[in-house]
Amino acid sequence: MQIADKVVVITGGASGLGLATARYLIAEKGARVALFDVNAEAGNAAVTELGDRAMFVATDVTSDTSVRASVAAVVDRFGAVHACINCAAILGPSKVLDKEGKATSLARFAQMAMVNLVGVFNVMSQCAEAMTRNDPENGEERGVVINISSGAAFEGQIGQCAYSATKAGVIGLNIPAARELGAQGIRVNAIAPGLFLTPMAAQVAPEVLASLKAMTEAPRRLGDPAEFAHCCAFIIENAYLNGETIRLDAASRLRAR
Ligand SMILES: NC(=O)c1ccc[n+]([C@@H]2O[C@H](COP(=O)([O-])OP(=O)(O)OC[C@H]3O[C@@H](n4cnc5c(N)ncnc54)[C@H](O)[C@@H]3O)[C@@H](O)[C@H]2O)c1
Repeated sequence: MQIADKVVVITGGASGLGLATARYLIAEKGARVALFDVNAEAGNAAVTELGDRAMFVATDVTSDTSVRASVAAVVDRFGAVHACINCAAILGPSKVLDKEGKATSLARFAQMAMVNLVGVFNVMSQCAEAMTRNDPENGEERGVVINISSGAAFEGQIGQCAYSATKAGVIGLNIPAARELGAQGIRVNAIAPGLFLTPMAAQVAPEVLASLKAMTEAPRRLGDPAEFAHCCAFIIENAYLNGETIRLDAASRLRAR
């Protein structure tokens, strides 16, 4: 799909990889971008920076009414939704047993599942509904969905039970969604990033961050958010890429701790 003038919804778009992608798609590709995020202050600041090809819609990805209203606001302002990049997620420790050896509380696991997995499904399905109304480009493409997973989906570390399981769930959506939505000309792919320096990565304790950096292979450095944005553009532009998960991680593989 050609990106110029297309409308791209980016959840978690007020920060980190989502915001970097919004910058790239507007500046390098001429897209129009709708940022969906719970952080209104950061979202409004992002639109001030990005200009009138961007809009912010305060959105909680865990709520179907919130997402429905946000998709309607995008269609109202920009006329359509052509691509959807699901970056919104939360990170936090989660083990099977707590420090006292007791079964861990379900609340943290459930909250992460709601944002990182249910939220992805919610935005994907409501954007896909809007995409079905697009005229197919080149007779075949109405829309593109990119769901953001993580290297932790494959090699989760100790303490990453909830995060890893939700990110593996995102990968599990790929094939059934791509098969179902293919009939409507909508492709579904995922990116599993390694470590990129964003506000989410900055939450990690400095000693853990240093050990994660040491696990990168080549190039031996953290990812640049512009490299992530470039990968999103490639997925949107390449019509034959479907049902795939791209590991964008400099061949790094997480160890147990
Ligand atoms: N940064 C990394 O190294 C890294 C590595 C692997 C995977 N990822 C994944 O990449 C994606 C982007 O990560 P990031 O580092 O840019 O994170 P970030 O913390 O900078 O941004 C996440 C955004 O999601 C928003 N958000 C949280 N809950 C929400 C909700 N309920 N509804 C709407 N918005 C909500 C936050 O307000 C924030 O703006 C995430 O899915 C993350 O799991 C990041």
